[in-house]
Amino acid sequence: MFARRIVVVGTGYVGLTTGACLASLGHRVVCSDVDAAKVARLARGEVGIFEPGLGELVGEGIAAGRLEFVLGSADAVADAEVVFLCVPTPMGSGGGADLAAVESVVAEVAEVLPTGCVLVCKSTVPVGTSARVAELVGRPDVAVVSNPEFLREGSAVHDFLNPDRIVVGSASQDAAERVAALYARLGAPTVLTDAPSAEMVKYAANCFLATKLSYVNAVAELCERLGANISDVTEGMGYDRRIGQSFLQPGPGWGGSCLPKDTAALLQVAQSVGFDFELLGATIDSNTRQREQMVAKVADACGVGVAGSLDGVRLGLLGLTFKAGTDDLRDSPALAVAELLAARGAELVACDPGLRGDEAPLRGVVSLVDDPYEAAKGSAGLVVLTEWQQFRALDWPRVAGLLAGPVVVDTRNHLDPDVLRRAGISWRGVGRLP
Ligand code: UGA
Repeated sequence: MFARRIVVVGTGYVGLTTGACLASLGHRVVCSDVDAAKVARLARGEVGIFEPGLGELVGEGIAAGRLEFVLGSADAVADAEVVFLCVPTPMGSGGGADLAAVESVVAEVAEVLPTGCVLVCKSTVPVGTSARVAELVGRPDVAVVSNPEFLREGSAVHDFLNPDRIVVGSASQDAAERVAALYARLGAPTVLTDAPSAEMVKYAANCFLATKLSYVNAVAELCERLGANISDVTEGMGYDRRIGQSFLQPGPGWGGSCLPKDTAALLQVAQSVGFDFELLGATIDSNTRQREQMVAKVADACGVGVAGSLDGVRLGLLGLTFKAGTDDLRDSPALAVAELLAARGAELVACDPGLRGDEAPLRGVVSLVDDPYEAAKGSAGLVVLTEWQQFRALDWPRVAGLLAGPVVVDTRNHLDPDVLRRAGISWRGVGRLP
């Protein structure tokens, strides 16, 4: 396979991972961004994103002369064979994806793309966007391809280099094959299709994952009421290969920068074509309820009843990020639960290994400490909201000595109930009895 001259526009976690990983596969990659300070930092090899392995790959790519960072896209694309669009597509008004960044890059590069160049939409964009981009570019000698990413935050490099599948869609078979060839060394199953189908794969997959989790959280609630154990139930379900063991862990709800945005966007797109996607609406509603359910569980564990006031009750929170292994608070269910607890009057002291110092979204909701024992000290109970491994390894007898009330609400079923019981702590999990 020949090395390609690739430009990646946008150096967020998708763009940077894509650029660094393509460089590691032997391609020559230029990453561009509109943020001058960020470009300067990246050119020095300073990644600034909490993503295992990414810093090393960027350093190696720069040292090997295969990876560089530039300000702006127009000059960079002049000799590109393939240009990846990896700019943000945040939730816009009405729940749909906001395409302003995509449109602005297209306006910048449309006239300077070399003949025969392929423009790839990697950002998660609504079905029909590739066709819209082709229209905006307005050049029959430039093909537009949809090539969605399936990277999880915290394991993006691993996911890029070990993909379950590569999906490439375009009206041009030749362009789709050229993009698929960039990944040939990875040996992954490849789906070659049209652009709307490739775009749809991404939404359909993320919405399916969200639905799987809402379903599991509802089954957990039912298990709790019926005296069944959700851990055994999901294990038993997961051996069915049609279901699979992964993505079956109950929790305080699903969140992060992708699933909430993509579920809202697909629901909105469905509405726009007159389809009432009731199932997806229920998935989203049930996720909102899940957070409230966790707050009721905490209130109950504190002895004030599910709807009782937590006025002045001090609680220690373990975890605030949307999942372990990130420093990301975007649409974090943990933070949403914290906000609901604060609204009930609780005084919150939180510890999260991914967070340090003064986090703006936390002001007025929780105070952040670095030491989990500090969060436990004098608290009426602890609430586990994010599944950081560090929490399992705490000295639980010491925690018991620090707590004013020896109760732990574990919204992730993350801790070992036997260890807590032996420490004299009452454990309340999700979907199972202690
Ligand atoms: C998600 C998808 O998993 C990726 O495949 C996709 O590429 C990415 O969105 C994206 O669209 O870019 P990510 O947002 O990094 O990745 O997070 P996940 O690991 O999927 O977790 C999402 C949420 O579900 C988290 O709040 C997590 O705690 C929760 N979760 C996950 C559970 O509650 N239980 C589980 O068993 C798994």
